[in-house]
Amino acid sequence: MSDDQFPEAPAVVRLPRYTKREQDEILGDGDDPFGVAAAGLTWLPKKEHFGIRHGDRLVAHAGLLRLPVTIGDTETEVVGVGGVAVAPDRQGRGLARLVVQAALDHARTMGPQHALLFCRPALVPLYQRLGWHPLGTEVLVEQPESRLVSMPLRTMVTALHDNAYWPSEPVRLFSLPM
Ligand SMILES: CC(C)(COP(=O)(O)OP(=O)(O)OC[C@H]1O[C@@H](n2cnc3c(N)ncnc32)[C@H](O)[C@@H]1OP(=O)(O)O)[C@@H](O)C(=O)NCCC(=O)NCCS
Repeated sequence: MSDDQFPEAPAVVRLPRYTKREQDEILGDGDDPFGVAAAGLTWLPKKEHFGIRHGDRLVAHAGLLRLPVTIGDTETEVVGVGGVAVAPDRQGRGLARLVVQAALDHARTMGPQHALLFCRPALVPLYQRLGWHPLGTEVLVEQPESRLVSMPLRTMVTALHDNAYWPSEPVRLFSLPM
């Protein structure tokens, strides 16, 4: 196998664990691999993890967990998607598309009607290409010491089921962001 090619579409697998070590394997151990440190936020670890290996090495990841939210006055749950990462030397080959798609296939079995993620403004076009939509409303998220802050990053949502409807109303997460 050439180093540049997978023999066929790479398999996405459930990962038994995803710690700092696995993240470093993908992105290296730099200070700010997601480019979001300036936002100064505390993040929630994800509960379910999907990954792509290339040989012995983990090269892509997406994580999921269920989160309670309100949209306007409506209490509901979303599937939070986070920790989307592709190794720098494997980027631009569709691995984020594959691993996020596999994570969303699982999210469709979890119950909530929508998945939600936070990203830097520069990544909005990429997620739009994957079928996500930017929210225009304020999103409040919890932070340590009972603080409630307005999310400074962009919030994107995607429907997990036919006829899912996302009202254009303010959102509040009853947790840290993921
Ligand atoms: C963001 C990241 C995950 C993207 O991974 P990737 O494997 O290079 O992405 P893909 O190759 O799967 O690209 C996904 C799609 O977005 C498209 N795309 C990429 N950059 C784009 C841009 N600037 N504008 C529009 N579309 C874009 C790709 O063409 C592809 O679409 P296609 O499959 O229809 O061709 C990767 O750059 C990364 O790990 N960055 C560091 C960590 C990070 O910032 N994670 C994001 C957390 S929200």
